[in-house]
Order: sequence, then structure tokens, then C-alpha cells
Amino acid sequence: MNTVIETILNHRSIRSFEDKPLTREQIEIIVESAQAASTSSYIQAYSIIGVTDREKKKKLAELAGNQSYVEENGHFFVFCADLFRHEYIGKMEGKDVIPSIESTEKFMVALIDASLAAQNASLAAESLGLGICYIGGIRNNLDEVGKLLNIPERVIPLFGLAVGYPKKMTDKKPRLPLSHVYHEEQYNTDHYEEELTSYNKVISSYYKERTGGKRTDTWTEQMANMLEKQSRMYMKNYVEGQKFNKQ
Ligand SMILES: Cc1cc2nc3c(=O)[nH]c(=O)nc-3n(C[C@H](O)[C@H](O)[C@H](O)COP(=O)(O)O)c2cc1C
Repeated sequence: MNTVIETILNHRSIRSFEDKPLTREQIEIIVESAQAASTSSYIQAYSIIGVTDREKKKKLAELAGNQSYVEENGHFFVFCADLFRHEYIGKMEGKDVIPSIESTEKFMVALIDASLAAQNASLAAESLGLGICYIGGIRNNLDEVGKLLNIPERVIPLFGLAVGYPKKMTDKKPRLPLSHVYHEEQYNTDHYEEELTSYNKVISSYYKERTGGKRTDTWTEQMANMLEKQSRMYMKNYVEGQKFNKQ
């Protein structure tokens, strides 16, 4: 055990922050940490937008499904997949990069890059004693988010990251059994249902304890109920409209 691993294992999403802005130094160390993440072929296919303007944050909170902590936090970052930069580079260098940057592969590269950067940012923030919550809710309406943040073609806002001083701590949420997630040598489904059933028991009693008995649902119930409904089905068109994943 060391302090890095302690920070990682102590993670829980924080949804209530003190009204205290992050300092410029904190913001910069968080962004530098994001930038230190590995990046596919050195492509650095992401951008991060910091939002502090109260009105803008209010609007983002509404767009994200009225999540108050999008407005009330120490700083709000938006992580974007970004190949606008690479179109620009193509022009600078007089090369046709368009078929490549419109491919599914480069779409995946940009998503992976942005996600790795965001997780580094999150860990850096948590290591400073700050709390974080990712906000996928901004994908409810990317046209509006795009207008608000002046997003060009070849850029996709993927998720927000609310960071700040925790006002209320939450409990740590138990994860799937390690053996269900970690396979050796090959994908293994030997004890699949058994593992899910035992995890269900853990989660059901976790919710029971946390809600004073009001909630006792299992993880597989929660997932099936969520996945039964389709959500954000406009995404394919939006992504292609932003000139990603076209071929
Ligand atoms: C990409 C992404 C988007 C998320 N979006 C939201 C969100 O919009 N609102 C929210 O309250 N939590 C959001 N979360 C947090 C998850 O709900 C949370 O990580 C999960 O329930 C596990 O809980 P924990 O982080 O406390 O361990 C998001 C997490 C990720 C990784």
C-alpha cells in the first residue's frame, strides 16, 4: 500500500461541494496531471474546457438534467474528444488527414485519450483532498452544450468533471468481484452467474443499510432496468455530424 493506491481505493463520487473556488495553482496541476496521461501515438486528441461563469454553469446544470453540483462546485471541467487540432495540423503540413481522422479508429483513439486524461485529473484532484464527480449528463443535449461552449466540428464534449471541497462524504460503492472482472489467459465465464448473484447480495445490503431499508435492489436489477430503456439515441447522428466515426 502507498498513498497513490490509497487515494485510488478511497474513491467515491462527491455530489455536494463547498462554495469555494479552486485556485489557479490547483486547476493547473489538475490539467497538467491530465496531460501527463499516456496518449495513443502521442496524438493528444482531447481538450479540456474549464467553466467558472455562474450563468454558464447554471445552464449546464439544467442541460445535464438539473444536477445542482454542476453549478455548485469548486471548478467544472468539460472533457472533449478533439480532432479539430489534427485537421488544422493537416492544413499546416499540407497533408490530407481527413479520411484518417474521420475513421472509427480515430474516434476510439480520441475517446480513450480523453478518458485517460480525465481519470488522471480526477486522481490528482482526489490526492489534493478534493472530491470529484463525472457528469455524463451533459450528453443529454450536446447541441446546446456545444453552443454554450463554442464547440467546433471535430470536437465532442464527452463528460463534465465537477471538482471541489466535499461538503458531504458518500459511502464507497462496492465493485464487482475481482474474479468477475479479471480473467487470466482467456475470457472466462465459468462462475458467471454465481459471481453476479453473490455481488447482488452485497449491493442489496449496501443499499438497504444506506437508505434505512427503502432501497434493496440488486445490481443486475439496476442494470437491467436502466438498459431496458434506450437513452441519447441521437448520438450516432451527432457524432457523425461532428465528423467523427464516418468510415
Ligand atoms: C463517464 C461518467 C459519467 C457520469 N455521469 C454522472 C452524472 O451525470 N451524474 C452523477 O451524479 N454521476 C455520474 N457519474 C458517476 C457514477 O454514477 C459513479 O461513478 C458510479 O455510480 C460509481 O460510484 P462511485 O464513483 O461513487 O464509486 C458518472 C461517471 C462516469 C464515469
